[in-house]
Amino acid sequence: MSLPTDEFYRISKLPPYVFAVVNEMKAKLRADQQDVVDLGMGNPDGATPRPIVNKLIEAVRNPKNHRYSVSKGIARLREEIVNRYRRKYDVDLDPATEAIVTIGAKDALAHLLFAVVGPGDAVVSPNPAYPIHQYGVVMAEGQACMLPMPDANTFLNGLEDLYRRATRKPRLILISFPHNPTTTCVDLPFLAEIVRLAQHHGSMIVHDFAYADLGFDGYKPPSILQVPGAKDVAVEIFSMSKSYNMAGWRVGFCLGNPKMIAALARIKSYLDYGVFQPIQIASIIALRECEDDTEKINMLYQKRRDLLVGGLHKAGWAVEKPRGSMFVWAPIPERYRAQGSLEFSKLLLEKALVAVSPGIGFGPLGEGFVRFALIENDQRTRQALRSIKAFLNDKQVPSAAAEADPDFSSTEPVVQTRP
Ligand SMILES: Cc1ncc(COP(=O)(O)O)c(C=O)c1O
Repeated sequence: MSLPTDEFYRISKLPPYVFAVVNEMKAKLRADQQDVVDLGMGNPDGATPRPIVNKLIEAVRNPKNHRYSVSKGIARLREEIVNRYRRKYDVDLDPATEAIVTIGAKDALAHLLFAVVGPGDAVVSPNPAYPIHQYGVVMAEGQACMLPMPDANTFLNGLEDLYRRATRKPRLILISFPHNPTTTCVDLPFLAEIVRLAQHHGSMIVHDFAYADLGFDGYKPPSILQVPGAKDVAVEIFSMSKSYNMAGWRVGFCLGNPKMIAALARIKSYLDYGVFQPIQIASIIALRECEDDTEKINMLYQKRRDLLVGGLHKAGWAVEKPRGSMFVWAPIPERYRAQGSLEFSKLLLEKALVAVSPGIGFGPLGEGFVRFALIENDQRTRQALRSIKAFLNDKQVPSAAAEADPDFSSTEPVVQTRP
């Protein structure tokens, strides 16, 4: 007799990933030889910079690096992330007690919530949000309390209001700027206000800083640890995935409040033996030598943002230009809004062969939007724009090779990061 999945206590609280619907459709179309342009998942397409790859190859040849590593990360890597924070943000951290290496930001988020949230603890985060921000809380049996975030100030007002009227104060505030999926960006005074509220009410803060280095037109996303006294209540999660095109390598960090770091370290000491040591050694090189590559990666996303936003405007689809992140958050055109973001995403995939993420996958307040990820090169993005324009204007969707639309036919060279 087979076991019914919905009898598993935690699994029954996790709905199937909404994105799986679009992913399955995309896979089917590709199996039918259809050329789908994938602007769905935030999965960087660029190569990891060469010095990092070379260091990995060198380190992997040394048998000393094949053993279990240490779950909180090797000391030199923790020192290097601390150096980066000093250099970039003028923030002082103790590598022994205020920094831990994690298996990407997802590991840090899920296990930190598991470590510091107990049954019924209220955790406030914006809605819509990256799914683990909500379901990490559910898995830890906390009370996910999602406040609307059409913009940063509305979220802040909602938080202040919640502190005024709630009988049980939030145990933890979980935020992330530049924000996925809405692309909302904030400046340091906003983060200072969140820290002030948390200090006043005795809440913890987790700031997921996955898009730390993706800020456009001169905007530099602030670290919450730049706020004086932030370490008393906050940790920040930094990821190598986007800043160094290292998404598959699975390296991240949790930095800041020593008590929260110690709690995460304790949980992780039971769960894992740390990231494969050659990957940690290569990550030292990334943090020490590859700042120029990070800048190039950022400029590439900025260029793609301009192309996509400009192209959508020409296609008659008004979207806002994000100041940061690797996404464009697009309200569904009026004519299609009533059918909802999942149906609209399916339609766009079927008719225009363009994959996007339906907003509903990021929570109820993501409805009415779709998210584009800037993960295809200029040529493929132009191909997507031609198809979207034809689709929105009820025209025949052009074939991949056709460059008939003068709005999207230039073939500028694709900017590459160091191969
Ligand atoms: C807000 C946010 N946090 C974390 C992650 C995952 O980061 P990592 O690859 O380090 O696990 C993502 C990836 O898309 C993200 O958007």
